[in-house]
Amino acid sequence: MLDMNAMRSELSEAYDLTPSADLADSMQDIYARMNRVVTPPDFLMAAPYIRAINQLKKERNAVILAHNYMTPDIFHGISDVVGDSLQLAIEAAKVEADVIVQGGVHFMAETSKILSPDKIVLMPDMEAGCSLAESITPAGIEEMRRKFPGAPVVTYVNTTAEVKAASDICCTSSNAVQIVEALEADTVIMTPDQYLAQNVAQRVKNKRIVWWEGSCIVHEQYTAQDINEFREWNPGTVVIAHPECPPSVVEASDFSGSTSGIIKYVTDNKPEKAMLVTECSMASNIADALPEVDFVGPCNMCPYMKKITLEKVLYSLHTMTTQIEVDPAVAEGARVAVQRMIDMSKKLGL
Ligand code: 13P
Ligand code: SF4
Repeated sequence: MLDMNAMRSELSEAYDLTPSADLADSMQDIYARMNRVVTPPDFLMAAPYIRAINQLKKERNAVILAHNYMTPDIFHGISDVVGDSLQLAIEAAKVEADVIVQGGVHFMAETSKILSPDKIVLMPDMEAGCSLAESITPAGIEEMRRKFPGAPVVTYVNTTAEVKAASDICCTSSNAVQIVEALEADTVIMTPDQYLAQNVAQRVKNKRIVWWEGSCIVHEQYTAQDINEFREWNPGTVVIAHPECPPSVVEASDFSGSTSGIIKYVTDNKPEKAMLVTECSMASNIADALPEVDFVGPCNMCPYMKKITLEKVLYSLHTMTTQIEVDPAVAEGARVAVQRMIDMSKKLGL
């Protein structure tokens, strides 16, 4: 566990982190990307960290790969690549820098290490987990294989390297339907997200899909009743749900897609009012680029994603910790499952 007091005193000795109006003014180009959602006092506090991280990235030859659920200061201030899980995995395999800092949760950093084993992959907070990744172990995969002999196992990337290694192929929310459709099997095992599996089953009618009972603590909280009530009071709202939501929620929505699918849908359609049924930072990160869209409705925060902060990223680069290591034999097995997904996605034109 990070000792926050020790971390803060070490950082303040090594960097000038005093808020300065002149510094914030000189960084208005960065602020312009988030000024609809980050207040001037908050940016004043963030600016010295953003400056220090961007300088340190150059010294360490590092890049920051950040998920769409990172907070706007990370997403717009320090990230080199932003995207959904599939995009981040594809980019991790192509990184030329020596160091990758993962703006995201532990399974994402592991995936980066699996795809770029020669790079140093830094995780700013090892406690940034995921309820889906915690829901299954390789024994769970074996249990499913015993119950449904011969059925291929399609495992969501939100899992540990060990679970990926025990699976046949990975998927993300942006390619799950197409990957399941492309498999030559009548029965397909999907792990560990029961709702993603059920949403895929709604769209792939010619296969029997069976699933593990895991779920995302952010998306499982939404209900169709919430959405219907919200629509009643806010006519004209376009509702967009992530496929980790229960099928009844997806059914009650106008569109469902991965986090990047959501960005594309809102960017292309520019609805006057949009409710994003997903993690809170999603709307915040695109609000400035889409001033014509009013983002309305409730959102849920992922406590794991929110463990990644500017000061932890700075500390991670300053101390070069915590470096992700994956047992080489496990990494090899996991790489096969992830690479199959990447290759199949390319083949399917995704
Ligand atoms: P995507 O960005 O792939 O849609 O995944 C969402 C998610 O919950 C990642 O943790
Ligand atoms: Fe895991 Fe859900 Fe958080 Fe994504 S949003 S990291 S799936 S708990």
